[in-house]
Amino acid sequence: MQKTKEQAETAHQYLEDISKKMESVFDRHLPPETEIPQNLHKAMRYSMFAGGKRLRPALVTAAFDMFGGKGDSVWYAASALEMFHTFSLIHDDLPCIDNDDFRRGKPTAHKQFGEGTAVLAGDALCILAFELMAKTGNAKAIEILARHLGTYGMIGGEITDIESEGKTVTIEMVDYIHYHKTAALIEASLIVGARLAGANETDLSVIQKFGRTIGLAFQVVDDILDIISTTEALGKDAGSDIEKKKATYPSVIGLEASREKAQALYRESIQVLDTLPQNTDILRAIAAFIITRVN
Ligand code: IPE
Ligand code: IPE
Ligand code: MG
Ligand code: MG
Ligand code: MG
Repeated sequence: MQKTKEQAETAHQYLEDISKKMESVFDRHLPPETEIPQNLHKAMRYSMFAGGKRLRPALVTAAFDMFGGKGDSVWYAASALEMFHTFSLIHDDLPCIDNDDFRRGKPTAHKQFGEGTAVLAGDALCILAFELMAKTGNAKAIEILARHLGTYGMIGGEITDIESEGKTVTIEMVDYIHYHKTAALIEASLIVGARLAGANETDLSVIQKFGRTIGLAFQVVDDILDIISTTEALGKDAGSDIEKKKATYPSVIGLEASREKAQALYRESIQVLDTLPQNTDILRAIAAFIITRVN
């Protein structure tokens, strides 16, 4: 437990360093607010600079460094992954999806700018992210990322999430939702970082398994925090899942069993890393952070 705490602290520091670095990268990549269409650019920057843990860029750089990646392409990818994620959050919060008012400690994009602007800011972030990914010159990484974002990935999870509201669902269905809406992008962040570094297929399949496992743990913890935490601590609407009768881990197996599941997934994810010869310290630390996080 003490070791997990220390690792989580290491990850916390790593995330802070990446967050600082990313601020200037985003600023370079995002359109200026002074350029037309100004409101769209304001909304894109508002959501991107609202904060957030920057977990996905950190996974990109951690995987890239772990496999000995060289060069600057990683920054395009790290920036793109946070844009894809922010796009998913803006749309996830819309009245037609989760109808939430707070995100990253501020009013959600549609509350601040109106629904039309929020929808388009999300779209524009997603498309800009593909433009940045193209600059990496790695077509396979882009193809895999697109798969993880679309109907076979995040979007597939989001549609199933809203279609399952108010229904009695099996835990297998919750797994489907969670693997798709959340684990897919976490897994993709790691694969992209590893691919840009030139990792081989065997290593890529290990890193994918790690991402899938810790990605599911991430969403189980998200489900738990929605119940036990507060809007202030989370920076987003607590209790939103219960209000919308969402298909979540606690709603199907209860809070205590959900905690145990998250721990089991954490242990499984670090065991997966044992098979890699590379230094996996940062990924282990990030896994510990994911399981102990409070927001
Ligand atoms: C929130 O993701 C959406 C989920 C996948 C549960 P994060 O918890 O990573 O959100 P930010 O980026 O820190 O705001
Ligand atoms: C969100 O799941 C996953 C995506 C945004 C794709 P949630 O709806 O549980 O995320 P939060 O709790 O609003 O951050
Ligand atoms: Mg949602
Ligand atoms: Mg939501
Ligand atoms: Mg949630």
